[in-house]
Amino acid sequence: MNDLQKQNKPILLSGIQPSGHLALGNYVGAMRNWVQLQENYLGIFMVVDMHAITVRQKPADLRNRCLSFAAQYLAAGIDPKESIIFIQSHVPQHAQLAWVLNCYTYMGELNRMTQFKDKSQRHADNINAGLYTYPALMAADILLYQTDLVPVGADQKQHLELTRDIAARFNSTFSPTFKIPEPFIPEAGARIMSLQDVDKKMSKSDDNVNNYIALLDPPAVLRKKIKRAVTDSASEITPESLNRPGIGNLLTIYSVLNDMPPLDVVSSFEGQQYSGFKNELADALVAFLEPFQQRYDTIMNDKGYLSGILDEGAARARYMASKTISKVYRKLGFVPPGPA
Ligand code: TYM
Repeated sequence: MNDLQKQNKPILLSGIQPSGHLALGNYVGAMRNWVQLQENYLGIFMVVDMHAITVRQKPADLRNRCLSFAAQYLAAGIDPKESIIFIQSHVPQHAQLAWVLNCYTYMGELNRMTQFKDKSQRHADNINAGLYTYPALMAADILLYQTDLVPVGADQKQHLELTRDIAARFNSTFSPTFKIPEPFIPEAGARIMSLQDVDKKMSKSDDNVNNYIALLDPPAVLRKKIKRAVTDSASEITPESLNRPGIGNLLTIYSVLNDMPPLDVVSSFEGQQYSGFKNELADALVAFLEPFQQRYDTIMNDKGYLSGILDEGAARARYMASKTISKVYRKLGFVPPGPA
């Protein structure tokens, strides 16, 4: 048993698909809370490459993105001495448990998943079985580590509920095997919206780059995207602005980045023009992302350091995951293999 497990902290786990460009929505909805919660938990943070292939990916891009995303986790403040960071495909138990859980997940449940419905519309030429059974893989990711808390954005709530149902079903069919995880969905910023298409959530794999802020966007691009962000026909900040599409989203982003309650943000900008507020928001974003990007560059320039962290993370994860998968196989009635 390693030092981390000896500390017996509760488990915090989450992951991001290495598709598109890691975006402000992912940071605000998820990564920021990973960083804030990691101190009181054993954090397990994955780059979920196996999930990403449910949509077609160029192999070279996928390879680069996995490393780039892991480096961005570190640049955002995940502490590799305290937390475990790894690439999902380095831990084969995810695929093993996903198969088992597929057999304990009903098609009726999968049919209700809104992410599947959205993605099958967007990728109508490639509605593959993996896209459909994706929630069983996500349940495996979580249940393998006896996870206590899963910090995610609001769009993942339905997958989390299904994970809990699958775990409870398995536990009651056999005997307690999996911990039932709790979601952690932030009060502010759980659903950051697109900058141009203000009724749609901000997505890192949006075809229109002006719809999202990438964490690696250079300052001039960040400023341009905020300036061009769609707002409504009013032009001054008022207490109602928080509830309006477009400007409400920008106020939320400002409030999260500055750790200020949304109502305080509104009162400090009340009466000001949208354009003036947008300049302040752009300054706040640049002030936050410039040092992030410097840390990222340093990490990416030391590939040995990064791969060392990922190798160590995967080794720790395999150790923890192998315990759960042995327990699951035994309960199912699989004959244990002899010594290798
Ligand atoms: P993914 O890769 O789509 O998104 C990663 C995280 O970012 C959050 N998020 C947002 N939060 C606020 N506003 C937005 N506009 C926004 N867009 C995305 C997501 O809620 C998520 O927390 N299925 C997951 C990945 C996954 C996972 C897991 C998560 C696989 N296995 C196990 C937790 C635990 C997904 O597709 O996230």
